[in-house]
Amino acid sequence: MVDTQRCRRSCLAVPGSEPRMIDKARGLEVDQFFLDLEDAVAPLAKAEARRTVVAALNEGGWGDRVRTVRVNALDTAWTYRDVVDVVEGAGQSLDTVMLPKVSGPDQVRWLDLTLGQLERALGLAESSIGIEVQIEDAKGLADVDAIAASSARLEALIFGPADFMASINMPSLVVGEQPPGYDVGDAYHYVLMRMLTAARAHGLQAVDGPYLQIGDTEGLRRVARRSAALGLDGKWVLHPSQVDTVNEVFSPSQRDYDRAENVLDAYAWYTSEEGGRRGAAMLGDEMIDEASRKMALVVAAKGRAAGL
Ligand code: GLV
Ligand code: MG
Repeated sequence: MVDTQRCRRSCLAVPGSEPRMIDKARGLEVDQFFLDLEDAVAPLAKAEARRTVVAALNEGGWGDRVRTVRVNALDTAWTYRDVVDVVEGAGQSLDTVMLPKVSGPDQVRWLDLTLGQLERALGLAESSIGIEVQIEDAKGLADVDAIAASSARLEALIFGPADFMASINMPSLVVGEQPPGYDVGDAYHYVLMRMLTAARAHGLQAVDGPYLQIGDTEGLRRVARRSAALGLDGKWVLHPSQVDTVNEVFSPSQRDYDRAENVLDAYAWYTSEEGGRRGAAMLGDEMIDEASRKMALVVAAKGRAAGL
């Protein structure tokens, strides 16, 4: 069974054609990594990258990080061979396949069926390989609800800001930053909230994409905080220098985490036989009820996943 609740605060993008970068990735404190066969790999290097990715997965050393491969999009000539070679070569060492530029539910169904065929042919456990999809163009966002409902293997929807900005003709060259001239709010609020709502409606995680200004830690923190505040589960990182910031931003503070656990304990006691099963409970000066319990559960779950 796929696991829709894996910890995905930080997801490291690693070019599948770069063995040295892959080796370095093993030492980084990220929750997830993906070995990329798509945009980080030149067309002539795709076949060799598949072999490198298979070897890297089989070699292991990834601890409990989520192990993902990003295949090429379905409007290219490479997707089929990417999926077949990677799963045949390293299917038992793979948690999820990431499909980029998903424009509709049929594409996800194709991947679901193909993975099912491979699992059967290879004797892998049924539905052992999950799917993550990138929402990164106007069509994908317009159909995001159907995409989110398209497969029981789906674990996460991921926003791809660079491709999305290009897809809607946003006249900006700085990925993830506000476009010049837009001074009336956050240009990404709609797309993030739209994707997040579709993800939650179908029990999926929601992840923000990359921030390309590697040297600008404060910019990264600002953009990551925006997504974390909405409720997204994590964000991509492209460089070791981005990892700590993203892990920190997507973990609750110790104070909030402790408070959330206290709310859960207090509410459990008030609603028990011993506490008299009262409807409204107090924690210090604050009234807590069933809705407070649900909010506390969100923060407590993120804190537990982060090991607080
Ligand atoms: C990631 O794939 C992006 O397009 O931003
Ligand atoms: Mg992209």
